[in-house]
Amino acid sequence: MREPEEDERELLLDGWDEAAKGWGRQADSVRAAAMPVSSWLVERVAPRAGQTLLELAAGPGDTGFLAASALAPGGTLICSDAVQAMLEVARERAAEQGVANVEFKQLQLEWIDLPTASVDAIIVKWGVMLVLDPEAAVRECRRVLRPGGRLALAVWDAPERNPWTTIPQRALRELGHIDAPPPGAPGMFALAAPGRLGELLEDGGFFDVEVMPVEMPRSYANLNAWLGETVDLSRPFRGVWNALGDQQRAALRARIGELAREFTDASGALVLPAVSLAASAGA
Ligand SMILES: C[S@@+](CC[C@H](N)C(=O)[O-])C[C@H]1O[C@@H](n2cnc3c(N)ncnc32)[C@H](O)[C@@H]1O
Repeated sequence: MREPEEDERELLLDGWDEAAKGWGRQADSVRAAAMPVSSWLVERVAPRAGQTLLELAAGPGDTGFLAASALAPGGTLICSDAVQAMLEVARERAAEQGVANVEFKQLQLEWIDLPTASVDAIIVKWGVMLVLDPEAAVRECRRVLRPGGRLALAVWDAPERNPWTTIPQRALRELGHIDAPPPGAPGMFALAAPGRLGELLEDGGFFDVEVMPVEMPRSYANLNAWLGETVDLSRPFRGVWNALGDQQRAALRARIGELAREFTDASGALVLPAVSLAASAGA
């Protein structure tokens, strides 16, 4: 008999499968905005020639691609995601960026189908908080890392430090389109509580754990640019947005604009705070 958790996992991954095209469309702007976080992660794993670097939950793959040239000659990037449609996006982007020393693998965070002690470094940007069992994901990272290997990962900091994403969600709730997620559910802020990420890594067998906030403010030319990105990247938002009539959409748009007033200048351009928690640890 199937466990209820298996159905939940399947639903979560179906959501990512459906989101892949939008993530592909937005990949250039996400790559640019995320550079402070991505660079931090790559610096912390300090990739070297001949090494094997595993990126998990890679989505469009850009974080790992930043490190690929440092692995040459002789080294390999394993670009992985649980969702084939995301790997297709990553394959296309690797070809566009001329990244050749890369293998693509469909891998799950909670049971990484790789041999024990088989990789030198792991990067996971905005993945571990999305799974039902983050403890299992961290244990698996520890298992596949060689002794002396490094893990660098990023999750999202607290909701109040991330109005770029919490404002649209708040407007959806206020206007009765969605309910608040149940406490403890996987999602963007599941590992945001103070101390939680460091504790997770130490409990998972890592040492030399460092956790710090990394700011990556999001700039948009106008409200429509922000909404367009949100429709592409956020499945719950897209689901509601696409089902609304013109009047309801206008009301939602207006409420988002009001909530973002303090971040909007006279021309209508927005700069919204966004903060990740970045962590590095040794195996
Ligand atoms: C928020 S996106 C981040 C993508 C990319 N790391 C980035 O920084 O742009 C999350 C990614 O995690 C993948 N994902 C979700 N659940 C996963 C799981 N259980 N195992 C592996 N990947 C998963 C999704 O398919 C998606 O590509």
